[in-house]
Amino acid sequence: MANACGMDFGTSNSTVGCSRQGQATLLALEDGKMTLPSVVFFNADENEFTYGRAALNTYLSGYEGRLMRSLKSLLGSGMIDGQTEVGGRALPFRELLVQFIGELKQRAERACGHALDSVVLGRPVYFVDDNPAADQLAQDTLTDIARAVGFRHIDFQFEPIAAAFDYESGIDREELVLIADIGGGTSDFSLLRLSPQRAAKAERRDDILATGGVHIGGTDFDKYLSLSSVMPLLGLGSKLNSNSEVPSGYYFNLATWHTINLIYTRKAWQQLQDVYREVSEREKFGRLLDLVEQRAGHWLALQVEAGKIALSADESVELQLDRLSPPQTLQLERSDFDASIQHLVTTVELTVGNLLRDAGVRADAIDTVFFTGGSSGVHLLRQKIGALVPNARQVEGDLFGSIGTGLALDAIRKFS
Ligand SMILES: Nc1ncnc2c1ncn2[C@@H]1O[C@H](COP(=O)(O)OP(=O)(O)OP(=O)(O)O)[C@@H](O)[C@H]1O
Ligand SMILES: [Mg+2]
Repeated sequence: MANACGMDFGTSNSTVGCSRQGQATLLALEDGKMTLPSVVFFNADENEFTYGRAALNTYLSGYEGRLMRSLKSLLGSGMIDGQTEVGGRALPFRELLVQFIGELKQRAERACGHALDSVVLGRPVYFVDDNPAADQLAQDTLTDIARAVGFRHIDFQFEPIAAAFDYESGIDREELVLIADIGGGTSDFSLLRLSPQRAAKAERRDDILATGGVHIGGTDFDKYLSLSSVMPLLGLGSKLNSNSEVPSGYYFNLATWHTINLIYTRKAWQQLQDVYREVSEREKFGRLLDLVEQRAGHWLALQVEAGKIALSADESVELQLDRLSPPQTLQLERSDFDASIQHLVTTVELTVGNLLRDAGVRADAIDTVFFTGGSSGVHLLRQKIGALVPNARQVEGDLFGSIGTGLALDAIRKFS
């Protein structure tokens, strides 16, 4: 096991865990923190890559370059063989993934003090909904990347099963548990029988009653909050002189983490100029042009995300959008946020309903619902999932660490 680890490459945050004195432990990856935000910034001024919080800070301090977040969303998508360009340099997405996962491995090795050659990688139940071939391709791509960064033994585990192993390490009797892992890119669920005795078994297939998931997560909540509340400030929904609406595609790309850079191409810039000549509300569309010129798309998405997170604590928050011209103050209400994500939450509820049906388990037989993943902070989701399992005790795990710890536990079992 000495050379094995569990790696949770997340849409928003990543962790790596390994065994210390037989215990699964997360490794410090950045400034003593156990998470490394899944962010890469290519700094074109300095010709170097930065990662994690440092990447966000370098981008925000105004260096010329390219920021990539939500790289995991590229796995299984048609964009995986694409690239983004900056200062005449092409940055293929596949290579950016290799850079980031290689960095995760190196940092983990530095933290644990030795080389790692075996890994259990977490994966969502579905990388891609309703498309087994694309889903398999996503896992194959991740396998290739893990090999390219130097792992020799590579195994996978469903993220919500890993979370179950983490929860199981702290219980003292048998429980029927629904695991809800609501992350940045996907909502993943599993239903298992857990107990200290079962934890000792090598083969757990019989304990897993069902798994399910859907490609909906925090980045989608950011997107729909942005489209409903922020993009209208930049002209979404406004009219052209011909009385038709301004094309919405630019706004969708700008509101979606992994497509923000598409609006920075020369071609997109020319199209935006053409549209500008046709718009009736020039002030709003001018704001969009100004934002694109500043390459401030990720800055805006970060403000929206911060607003969304603040709405988990408060009913109402104020966003200071000081890089818009002129600077704007935007009031966000939780009720408006809830309305903007209602359709996504309904799909997540259906996913849980189907999982319970597939398992043939009565909802009221479930003892515990274990929440992990940053987006389990979203009130509406918690409420709706909680309502589906009325008798279950609600337990909150380490929102950003349960998967990594569970993968490390799995690596201990699989590689020792
Ligand atoms: N308090 C909060 N309320 C709501 N959302 C939150 C909160 N804190 C973090 N988030 C959101 O949680 C998401 C990140 O969660 P997490 O780190 O679990 O995802 P991930 O593991 O990277 O993604 P995935 O597992 O889907 O690949 C982000 O979208 C972030 O905005
Ligand atoms: Mg996750």
